[in-house]
Amino acid sequence: MTDVSVTKDAIPAADELVVLNQVNKHFGALHVLQDIDLTISRGEVVVVIGPSGSGKSTLCRTINRLETVDTGAITIDGKPLPQEGKELARLRADVGMVFQSFNLFAHKTVLENVMLGQIKVRKADKTAAEAKARTLLDRVGVGTQADKYPAQLSGGQQQRVAIARALAMDPKIMLFDEPTSALDPEMINEVLEVMQQLARDGMTMIVVTHEMGFARSAANRVVFMADGRIVEEATPDQFFSNPRSDRAKDFLSKILHH
Ligand SMILES: Nc1ncnc2c1ncn2[C@@H]1O[C@H](COP(=O)(O)OP(=O)(O)O)[C@@H](O)[C@H]1O
Ligand SMILES: [Mg+2]
Repeated sequence: MTDVSVTKDAIPAADELVVLNQVNKHFGALHVLQDIDLTISRGEVVVVIGPSGSGKSTLCRTINRLETVDTGAITIDGKPLPQEGKELARLRADVGMVFQSFNLFAHKTVLENVMLGQIKVRKADKTAAEAKARTLLDRVGVGTQADKYPAQLSGGQQQRVAIARALAMDPKIMLFDEPTSALDPEMINEVLEVMQQLARDGMTMIVVTHEMGFARSAANRVVFMADGRIVEEATPDQFFSNPRSDRAKDFLSKILHH
């Protein structure tokens, strides 16, 4: 685990970027999100943890409207999520998402992967898009791989390209859903380091991860979910040293002692 500390400055409460207000969602009979209230301030890094099936991925997916909600409201920068069309494409660009699986376009080069959204959604011209793509690929440490295809890269490199691709849209917030879970152990740190740097640079981030070292060093806040509810919210120090709920105690004992 890297031990790069991030300065955890206090975030002014008024600067709300993402607000979920009493959000509920069902999949058939399953009440997958239950009365979720969650506010993310600009520049804040929130780590979401919890057992498998607790609704973490669904929570992320509602924020860029890959899933709709049944009741409740979600706003980004004070505006409700758009329903469809160009507005929705812009929302998806504003809310960068990095998944467990890398989701790169297999038949496009690394460079093209990072250029495409800039041209299609942000209407950048080709020269500008290429220059920005190269800068971002350098920043995540894969600049020399620009002309290769995704399959020619390691998992860790592909995931860093996926981060660069999301960043190319100048997102307001980045969502990471278990970005290192599919990686071989030796590649986890190279991805976490890129995320640490993003956090240090002030990016607003929601990160679903079981990497407790990352949570401790980069998160302003830990949100613990179980059975579709937010059971506990605390600073990393409070949460890891003194979890309040039995669910969190149980979960931590399982992930920390095996
Ligand atoms: N598209 C879907 N249709 C039906 N059930 C789903 C769907 N997506 C997720 N679920 C169920 O919702 C619950 C929460 O899933 P998920 O949000 O992926 O949890 P987590 O990411 O915390 O593991 C699980 O029981 C899962 O099986
Ligand atoms: Mg998940």
